[in-house]
Amino acid sequence: MKIPFNKPYLSGNELQYIRRAVESGHISGNGTYTKKCQSYFEERWGFQKCLLTTSCTDALEMCALLLDIKLGDEVIMPSYTFVSTALAFVRQGAKIVFVDSRSDHPNMDEDLLEELITSKTKAIVPVHYAGAACDMDKIMALADKYNLYVVEDAAQAIDSYYKGKPLGSIGHLGCFSFHETKNIQSGEGGMLAINDERFVKRAEIIWEKGTNRAEFFRGEVNKYGWVDIGSSFLPSDIIAAFLYAQLENLDDIQAKRKAIWNTYYEGLKPLADQGFVKIADIPDYTTNNAHLFYLLCNNPEDRDELIGHLKSNEMHAVFHYLSLQESEYYEKFRDKRKLPHSVMFSDHLLRLPFYYELSEDQIIDIIKHIQDFYANQAK
Ligand SMILES: Cc1ncc(COP(=O)(O)O)c(C=O)c1O
Repeated sequence: MKIPFNKPYLSGNELQYIRRAVESGHISGNGTYTKKCQSYFEERWGFQKCLLTTSCTDALEMCALLLDIKLGDEVIMPSYTFVSTALAFVRQGAKIVFVDSRSDHPNMDEDLLEELITSKTKAIVPVHYAGAACDMDKIMALADKYNLYVVEDAAQAIDSYYKGKPLGSIGHLGCFSFHETKNIQSGEGGMLAINDERFVKRAEIIWEKGTNRAEFFRGEVNKYGWVDIGSSFLPSDIIAAFLYAQLENLDDIQAKRKAIWNTYYEGLKPLADQGFVKIADIPDYTTNNAHLFYLLCNNPEDRDELIGHLKSNEMHAVFHYLSLQESEYYEKFRDKRKLPHSVMFSDHLLRLPFYYELSEDQIIDIIKHIQDFYANQAK
């Protein structure tokens, strides 16, 4: 492909920091760069405690353990999300209750949540699609009213804000991804942000294979051992070294991504104004962190043909999530409710190439091919 969908990149010091980590003699977890990254997140966004993980999937699994999710518990989340959002809770035996998307945005429809809450509901998991916030005031008010936990799936939402508050800092727990498609990346990678004091100590134990090893290394206990459940959730310091170099360039990365987003938006708005496509509105309570740019085609056929047209011009556009309620795995568990908006986003949404090194000329080229596609259709 002349223009791939994604391209990982080096922002400057990645290889130098990996070398330094190796030379320091500590490349396992919880090393110097892990601590530097965690402090950076805590200081910049005010998260109470951050723990790097090997993925957002892992961070979500830690949440399911921390909340003691067990057989029979119910967890509410959008159907329009990635499998990982559900996986962590399903593994613990929870029943997933999927909620539909809003009609105007892939995020969960907050107004449908209350009717889904039962005496078994334990948690709500909002997903901030494309880094755009769910209406967290509504969600947190319900959580307070029914005594529920809120886990923000902020996989795509680094450096994005709801009414000025960083996403991932509002729920009891927040989970981030640094997968190579994300704004800040380390190949695979993730982070758990803990915003509730009650979970801090246990999270560290679960992170360190069920041991109090972190306390031991801080000199708080004189030996360490097996004290709880857990797993090996912490990444190598090599991954953290890569991530730290990216964090140092966060402002530059974000400025570049916002410029890419705006070029797409300005170039494609005329097609939206003529009704050929939709560009989803971003609610006024959220910032846009320029994680991805998507169009909504008028029907699934247009979407698939447009993907094919771009592909034949060596430009890789993709669809996104398949509504989880409709998935093969969930068939045996699902209730009879239809979730039409989730299905609509699965069928109509198209993501355009988006990465740091994408040039303005390339974006203009992509836009031109989209315009050609609709010009031919109008003939
Ligand atoms: C909403 C959402 N949650 C979780 C994940 C899983 O992230 P990771 O690949 O870091 O495990 C993704 C992946 O893109 C995602 O989009």
